[in-house]
Amino acid sequence: MDKSIIYRNIHVYRMAMNLLYAFGYRQRFRDVMALISGRDKKILELCFGDIYIAEECKTKNIEWTGMDINERFVGYASGKGYNAICADLLKTDEFPTSDACIMMGSFYHFYPEVETMLVKMLRSAPKIIISEPVRNLSSAKGFIGMVSRKLSNAGKGPESFRFDEKSIVDTFNELCYKYKFTYKVISKKRDILIEIANERNQHCDTCV
Ligand SMILES: C[S@@+](CC[C@H](N)C(=O)[O-])C[C@H]1O[C@@H](n2cnc3c(N)ncnc32)[C@H](O)[C@@H]1O
Repeated sequence: MDKSIIYRNIHVYRMAMNLLYAFGYRQRFRDVMALISGRDKKILELCFGDIYIAEECKTKNIEWTGMDINERFVGYASGKGYNAICADLLKTDEFPTSDACIMMGSFYHFYPEVETMLVKMLRSAPKIIISEPVRNLSSAKGFIGMVSRKLSNAGKGPESFRFDEKSIVDTFNELCYKYKFTYKVISKKRDILIEIANERNQHCDTCV
């Protein structure tokens, strides 16, 4: 299944995201970077798509690795000199270890396997940052709804599932109890921003 036109070029993708986020697209990356502390020397960004986090890391002398299934996004990042890996995260058993693992605007792509995805993230980093859209625009009428629906096809056909505020909080409440991590909701805008502290990390004996 061919990916949506929005995923074929980073500049088209940026335009679409700027529309969807009412020009708050870039601010999402700043909100995430604000959670990176001086102790975080190595960042893994899953489903990175864009290179704003990579650019920020470079200016702060932080080692950045990005993983994404989209060969065009990976090619763009590699061309700019960033360590970008082309991989299907569903088929990747272990992620590179880091001080903080970031996933933005992408957790819904892994439904119904979000638990498996989170366990792999918990094994790879003591800190996890998830920024996830919770105001579903894909059922909206007109251009915005159309753009939002196009974003659901990252290459495996259209995906209709989206989290809302309740379903994502319910998911984390259930998983934090099962895998013994703590989490904080940092902010709620079009994306909910969640920070997970996972002190048990790779020694987590409940991680299967
Ligand atoms: C909506 S975009 C989000 C991109 C960026 N993180 C942001 O917030 O703007 C979703 C990203 O997830 C990637 N993606 C979707 N399914 C994936 C998979 N199974 N493995 C790796 N990357 C995937 C897509 O290629 C795309 O770059």
